[in-house]
Order: sequence, then C-alpha cells, then structure tokens
Amino acid sequence: MAAPCIDRETTSEIVRQFGAKPEMLVQILQAIVMRYGWVPEETIRQLADEVNLSRADVFGVVTYYHDFRTEPPGEHIVKICQAEACQAMGSRALTDHARESLGAALHETSEDITLEPVYCLGNCACAPAVMIDGKTHGRVNQARFDKLVGAMKESR
Ligand code: FES
Repeated sequence: MAAPCIDRETTSEIVRQFGAKPEMLVQILQAIVMRYGWVPEETIRQLADEVNLSRADVFGVVTYYHDFRTEPPGEHIVKICQAEACQAMGSRALTDHARESLGAALHETSEDITLEPVYCLGNCACAPAVMIDGKTHGRVNQARFDKLVGAMKESR
C-alpha cells in the first residue's frame, strides 16, 4: 500500500492550528505523523520555513523521536517493547526472532511490515508486550508472535 501523500496546504493548515512557533514543532510533527505516518524531506523543509527554524533543527527533532519516521511505514506496524520489565521477560530474544522472521531490522520495513521498538506499552505486568497495528498483546513468546503475525498477514 502506498504511503499517503502530504500536501503543502495540509501541512500549513496543521502549522496554523498549533501556531507557527518553534516551540510548537513537536506537536506539529505529532499531528503530521498521526495523520500520515511519516515526515518526508519536503515537509521538513516546509516546516523549517514556516516555524522559522533551520532544516537541520527540524531534522534533528524528527530523528530524535522514534515515532517520527522519515520513510513511509508499511501497511502494518509491529512494535516490540524494549523497556525494563519486558527486557527482563525476554523481549530482546523476541526482537531477534522478529527481525529474523520478518526480515527487517528495527525501524525497517519488509513486505509492508514495519518493525519498531517501543519503550513501555503500559502492559508491564504482562511482559513481554507487543503492539500490532495499534493493539497491545501481552506475554508474547516466539510461538505467539508468529501466530499474531500470521493472523495479521491473513487479514490483508
Ligand atoms: S516495560 Fe514493556 S510494557 Fe512496560
């Protein structure tokens, strides 16, 4: 599935909603990512002009936050928690398994599935936790991961 396009007018409209101020940049980027899933280079340049920052400033903020992608995401997004409670329950081994089975490193997309790290899904009591297309799953071992991913692929 092709990533949605971001037109200049919509970007300007989002900037107007928050106010064209440098201190609103994170909120503006969040709104853009919520709507489009990523922030292309031309949008970074436009935002720099509109909030009066350099392109490097905006790019620095985009790359600082894990959720601000500069590449379009896949149709499906799989997030594996890397925070302490999940690490203690095997999320690193689960991540290695996911990388191998999906054929994508963290922050990469393969076969329209994007693999992302996440730092606590608020599901620590059921670690390790995974989020697939916005739905959280707890106590995910490798077999359960494969089953969840299989169901996700079948839902296409
Ligand atoms: S540490 Fe993984 S859900 Fe909280």
